[in-house]
Amino acid sequence: MLNKEITIKEIYQKINDDNYQDLDNKEITLKGFVRNNRSLGQVGFMSVNDGSCFLNAQAVYKGDDALLSSIKLGSTVIVKGKIHLTIGGYQPFEIDSSNIEVISQTEESFPLQKKKTSYDFLRTIPTIRMKSNTFNAVFRVRSVLSYYIHKYFHDNGYIWVHTPILTANDCEGEGQTFQVVADEKHPEEYFNKDNVHLTVSGQLHVEPFALTYGKVYTFGPTFRAEKSNTTRHAAEFWMIEPELAWCDMNQIMDVEEDFLKYIVKNTREECYQDFKFFYERVDKDLEKRLDDFVNKPFKRLKYEEAIEILKEASKTHHFDNSDIKFGLDLASEHERYLTEVHFKCPVFLTDYPKEIKAFYMKANDDNKTVRGVDLLVPQIGELCGGSEREDNYEKLLARMNELHMNIPAYEWYLDLRKNGSAPHSGFGLGFERMVMLVTGMTNIRDTLPYPRTYKDMLY
Ligand code: 4AD
Ligand code: MG
Repeated sequence: MLNKEITIKEIYQKINDDNYQDLDNKEITLKGFVRNNRSLGQVGFMSVNDGSCFLNAQAVYKGDDALLSSIKLGSTVIVKGKIHLTIGGYQPFEIDSSNIEVISQTEESFPLQKKKTSYDFLRTIPTIRMKSNTFNAVFRVRSVLSYYIHKYFHDNGYIWVHTPILTANDCEGEGQTFQVVADEKHPEEYFNKDNVHLTVSGQLHVEPFALTYGKVYTFGPTFRAEKSNTTRHAAEFWMIEPELAWCDMNQIMDVEEDFLKYIVKNTREECYQDFKFFYERVDKDLEKRLDDFVNKPFKRLKYEEAIEILKEASKTHHFDNSDIKFGLDLASEHERYLTEVHFKCPVFLTDYPKEIKAFYMKANDDNKTVRGVDLLVPQIGELCGGSEREDNYEKLLARMNELHMNIPAYEWYLDLRKNGSAPHSGFGLGFERMVMLVTGMTNIRDTLPYPRTYKDMLY
């Protein structure tokens, strides 16, 4: 027996499994919102979406019903009727409705109309935009992607560590933090500390867990007060930070590549309806790009070699910053040149100059570069940042002193090198940049349910 309240997703699953014969003529009840409605005189067609998947169910009704034919997009309805299979047709089934109950009608001013609306406009209505095709698909894919992230780590024996959001350390040492106070007049009163802020990374707090459990990861909200008004920076974003003991820089790249390919492959397979829409309507090159991402090896290259390539390129290619030399902190234009023009694939860039990387990265023997690795990808630039960690107490202390860091505040972190240390490495993946990569959306604001970016926060 079919559950009367079968979802659209379940109907499509049965049809795809070739297990659809018993669907024909089944009485069902469907609850959802109207995606489209048109009456052609005698007969009316109402496309209803119940949220279970990207696709709608089309309810057929008597077109001369004045109420039903006037129902606007976004209104909510309960449809009762029989499934009528139309396998081989434009859609594989429709519902011969016996009754459509209108639960809530949208007003004339309902902002989603059939005419094309811009992403800019939709951003101003975050409580409604996910009823449009594009955002409906984006937020479903965001959810499924996070499921496969957890699944990958769980299946491979990692422990998920819930590192704190409130912290007194600045992991990246960039000072781009949001301060937290309970009482403005007495900022130190609550924690007996004057430097409490929202975390920019869970890395420092997760390292001790890696040195115990071997393989761990974090997945949580992250905050950066960068005054960057770009399509790739948000003030509040989510980050995934795997950390592995007994792992060097080359091994962390292997993990990274395997992990990223796995999550893209599985999310694409599960959300094939959403992806069909992205390929056709969001980005015509996306399907090919994702095929390559999953099937071709990523390029691995030293920073120094990348500088040579960019120097050569600057003779014929325009860069806003063409002063390309060892020590340059690559900008997005350089990263994109390497991945989109030169290599045409994702690139792991390794062994950066120590001056442009964080204090915790393991020094190479040249004392000039560190075992840091960024993953650069076409269209986006930096997707992941990571490194092997400096596990030598003296070297780490010396580097922190060089950078005039507040040593007492980081003593607990330094001491990890005394309390049962091991070589270890990790990386951070910006989750929204990953959502951009898989969906083809080009603005980070369109991957976050309620984006918070520089100068911009709606309720
Ligand atoms: O390169 P980042 O700063 O690395 C770290 O925070 C390390 N502690 C990670 C680690 O080794 N465990 O940040 C990691 C990634 C970036 O590559 C980028 O994808 C993303 O986080 N990211 C941002 N995403 C959106 N908005 C921002 N403002 C971001 N800043 C970084
Ligand atoms: Mg980085």
